[in-house]
Amino acid sequence: MLKAHSFKALPAYAQLQTHFETVEHLHLRDLFAADPARFDTFSLRFADMLVDFSKNRITKETHALLVQLAEQADLKDAIDKLFSGDRINATEDRAVLHIALRNRSNTPILVDGQDVMPEVNEVLTRMKGFTERIRSGEWKGYTGKAITDVVNIGIGGSDLGPVMVTEALKPYASDSLRVHFVSNVDGVHIYETLQQVNPETTLFLIASKTFTTQETMTNAGTARDWFLQHGGTETDIARHFAALSTNRKAVEAFGIDPENMFGFWDWVGGRYSLWSAIGLSIALYIGFDNFEELLAGAHEMDNHFRDTPFAENIPVTLALLGIWYNNFFGAQTQAILPYDQYLHRFAAYFQQGDMESNGKSTDRNGNPTDYQTGPIIWGEPGTNGQHAFYQLIHQGTKLIPCDFIAPAISQRPIGNHHQLLLSNFFAQTEALMNGKSAEEAAEELRKAGKSDEEVAFLTPFKVFSGNRPTNSIMVKQVTPRALGSLIAMYEHKIFVQGVIWNIFSFDQWGVELGKQLANRIVPELADDEPVGSHDNSTNGLINFYKHMRKN
Ligand code: F6P
Repeated sequence: MLKAHSFKALPAYAQLQTHFETVEHLHLRDLFAADPARFDTFSLRFADMLVDFSKNRITKETHALLVQLAEQADLKDAIDKLFSGDRINATEDRAVLHIALRNRSNTPILVDGQDVMPEVNEVLTRMKGFTERIRSGEWKGYTGKAITDVVNIGIGGSDLGPVMVTEALKPYASDSLRVHFVSNVDGVHIYETLQQVNPETTLFLIASKTFTTQETMTNAGTARDWFLQHGGTETDIARHFAALSTNRKAVEAFGIDPENMFGFWDWVGGRYSLWSAIGLSIALYIGFDNFEELLAGAHEMDNHFRDTPFAENIPVTLALLGIWYNNFFGAQTQAILPYDQYLHRFAAYFQQGDMESNGKSTDRNGNPTDYQTGPIIWGEPGTNGQHAFYQLIHQGTKLIPCDFIAPAISQRPIGNHHQLLLSNFFAQTEALMNGKSAEEAAEELRKAGKSDEEVAFLTPFKVFSGNRPTNSIMVKQVTPRALGSLIAMYEHKIFVQGVIWNIFSFDQWGVELGKQLANRIVPELADDEPVGSHDNSTNGLINFYKHMRKN
């Protein structure tokens, strides 16, 4: 169990509040002018990764106080508990052991005195064998043809990780196997996917930790019906359906051969599950060796996180900077901006990772928090974002801390595309930091031949205040190993923030209410009778729908 504390009663919190008043008005431009070695002071290296956090509104004192905040929140104890299988997911009474799934050193990790590693390795070995049989063509569909398409049916953590990683690592994919993902209960999603595949050569992976999720079970049922209507028989299901789940009974009840079930455990959180059997679509797509590389990269980051002093610890540093903006500057959001088209689902992935973990307002003592917790996470790949929402980041009224992520080497080096891409990556953080003063703006206008009157009119609109904080995270290349490290880095950042905010990061009670109410409404939609069992608005909406569908 994690120790509880009171976030605002931590001595460093009060010190940071006082300190904030001295830092709030400092401009990054001046901080850089005052310290030519600021980049060296505020950047960290890990393997082929560089994390430059020098363009943040901090001084050495800020950094030191933030580290103290982590120490006073007993982060060390929390990290020890995470890595040793303590039941830190207290409201679900579970350990939190995604780190065991990628524990390449294979050192024992105990849950209730039992080493989980033999089970983890056993599932990995089965995944490897299965992956090889599918990819080699040895595994045949019901008409004797090799599998060409894998359809992963899952939602939330049983979808977003595999989607993000298979997109990110497309350059490592086999040419002969396509992957598809169906998540939404909107029939459009499965319809469009089934249009693209042939039942004779398609493997469905039903990915659900609980095997009860409405969306997934509905889509899985539709896929099975489609398969049976298109030539497959009940016995053929064994060649075309596999399950990734913790719920053996429900898998069997669905009719999936237990031989085709890849299990995991209650100590794997949905949004931390891509490292488990839920990653089977990833392994199938990029090959098992590459999947192991992904695990290895995450494991390396786990070791860094566990063993590195807080001041040099990358996830801890990113977490503390986030807290600095969230709780002292009042920033509401955090943007994640990858300058790599293959990472186009990275921000979407961490929307669940972060917002489902730290979107909480009850602290670990069971009291309402009287401070801000998890930020709104959002983002799109650069340079598309630049032509969409960066205007607001540069000149809007909101402070938006941004993580810029880029590889030094493109997976697709074509002409000078990558240099152009990276010139934007470098330019944006420079612009956000420096801004443009009224003098500079006026000078530019004069040089462009504008009249004095035009200069006077236009100058205010051309001013950039700057002082907008960014982290720049560079990797050599987005390899499976580097991606594993990047994902684990953000996972641990989220964990650190949850520990310091004194909240439980590994439950998700907030998604339950909507599910309960939807289940109550389902039978009410079966007939055309008007309903009156809800509030006035909900009744009105349901009755409008019923009216529209029949007329
Ligand atoms: O959205 C709630 C949630 O429980 C997520 O945490 C989880 O990733 C998702 O639903 C899917 O759950 P399951 O894997 O059990 O189908």
